[in-house]
Amino acid sequence: MTRGPIEVFLTGATGFLGHYLLAELLTHPHVRCRVLLRPPVSDSSVRLERLLADLGLNLSELIADGRVVPVEGVLPDSLKRSDVSGVDLVLHAAGNTTFHANGSNGLETTNIEGTRGLLSLAAEAKIRRFVFVSTAYVCGEQAGHLPESFFDRLPPVRNDYERSKWEAERLVRDWGERSGVATICRPSILFGDSRTGRASAMKGLYLVAKATEILARAMDDNRDTDRHEIALRILGCRDATCNVVPIDWAARQMTDIALNPATESSVHHVTNPDPPTHQEVKGWLEEYFDIAGGRFSDETWPLTDANHYEELFYALGNVCLDYFRNGLTFESRCAADLPPGRRLIDGASFARCMKYAQATNWCRTPLVEHDLPPQASRLDPAWYFESFLPEAVPCSVVAKVEALTAVVQYTITGPVGGSWVSRFDRGLLTETHAMPTALKPEFEYRLSYEDLVEVVSCRKPLQDVFFHGSAEMFGDVERALKMVPIIGEFLKEFPVAGGGDCAAGSRAGATC
Ligand SMILES: NC(=O)c1ccc[n+]([C@@H]2O[C@H](COP(=O)([O-])OP(=O)(O)OC[C@H]3O[C@@H](n4cnc5c(N)ncnc54)[C@H](OP(=O)(O)O)[C@@H]3O)[C@@H](O)[C@H]2O)c1
Repeated sequence: MTRGPIEVFLTGATGFLGHYLLAELLTHPHVRCRVLLRPPVSDSSVRLERLLADLGLNLSELIADGRVVPVEGVLPDSLKRSDVSGVDLVLHAAGNTTFHANGSNGLETTNIEGTRGLLSLAAEAKIRRFVFVSTAYVCGEQAGHLPESFFDRLPPVRNDYERSKWEAERLVRDWGERSGVATICRPSILFGDSRTGRASAMKGLYLVAKATEILARAMDDNRDTDRHEIALRILGCRDATCNVVPIDWAARQMTDIALNPATESSVHHVTNPDPPTHQEVKGWLEEYFDIAGGRFSDETWPLTDANHYEELFYALGNVCLDYFRNGLTFESRCAADLPPGRRLIDGASFARCMKYAQATNWCRTPLVEHDLPPQASRLDPAWYFESFLPEAVPCSVVAKVEALTAVVQYTITGPVGGSWVSRFDRGLLTETHAMPTALKPEFEYRLSYEDLVEVVSCRKPLQDVFFHGSAEMFGDVERALKMVPIIGEFLKEFPVAGGGDCAAGSRAGATC
């Protein structure tokens, strides 16, 4: 490892991986970090300050000591040459991890154009070393043992995300041939801190865990089904492995690789040499959430004969289905030093991660009350529940669901929130009242005002706000879950035209 002062330009520092990388880099006294923060830099600094505080670091002190220098900018093209001049190495960990591009979610702009822009700036500034954080799953749907080398041809990728990472790897590899030493680090699925279970984002395997928790909650009030005999087909291979790595271990490996004075370009798998099998993960989830009954199946989603529990589980957790099949192993030099028999993730560390996830309510950030997005400023929830729903529901798919008889509460949290209760009788919405009311709700949906605006205008799928947003279900969770797909259909049929005009009654398709 080099001993001279090193100036690192780090992107993605406010991310799940990035803040661990920053903390790890700062354990080396000869390292100074310039960190790219998205504008407004004051907001990004507050987020970074909180993340680092969890790891025992004080951002203000680090800035005052000159160990960390914030640089405001957004990829691909708002950076200037002076932002990177004098830098020894770029550690590019910023990325968009959405699986599917939709033209506006910035997947390609960030992952491909962002990498291209940064590489060209690094070449202009004559930076000798570029370290790029890719993913082990850039390999797509391959099987077998994968070497630490670049794929010359586009692998059989499963989604736009994997394709974008391969495109970016190609740009980095080409830069390495022309301009300097290019290092590609490919971590597998990042999981909670091995010491504390801490994670600052809940993606990947956490989504499956969250779907399991919802299933378990649905069982709490269910007298008809034994919670240890849930008929759930798990669409995957029991003996294939789930390559998860603890975030702290992955960040340490990547920091060591980055600070190692390499003279040649290289690819590194930052992967688990002894990962759990899907059968093990299933066992850990079942034990933690006290449910059982699932069995592995070769079938694929959608199941033509899906039962009620499968509908529930896959409506919420199917984003990860692709990763439940492939039986991959990875060559990994950095994992070779692990003492034999020491597993990076075992039942106890997995349970710690679950405990942390539940304690932080799956990393949900509290609503910042004074900071509503501009598009949210005029939606009136009272208008939505008291006027719009009674007008639109009779014309909608909901009215055709004869089995729908329920008393439902919606609670909107935040500065313009409130609670409303509706009675549905065989699909018909017969009454809606603001709380307090004599109607006794059987279950409740609770979500933030911001998420209400997103879902009613169809900018976010309803399922997303249960996973990534603020939405929660209370009371008879199983019945609440059953109603989610119906509400999803209703929202598609009767979107309101953005948040802004809702109170004035302007919306798309609200006539029968
Ligand atoms: N999470 C995993 O399991 C996993 C596994 C393998 C590889 N990886 C790779 O690891 C990297 C980090 O992933 P993560 O899970 O830490 O993601 P994350 O939590 O979503 O963080 C993404 C980071 O990138 C920044 N960013 C996004 N778009 C940007 C843009 N256009 N300009 C500047 N900064 C931008 C974000 O800034 P804001 O905070 O301002 O949004 C944030 O700091 C990614 O490259 C990902 O592909 C992740």
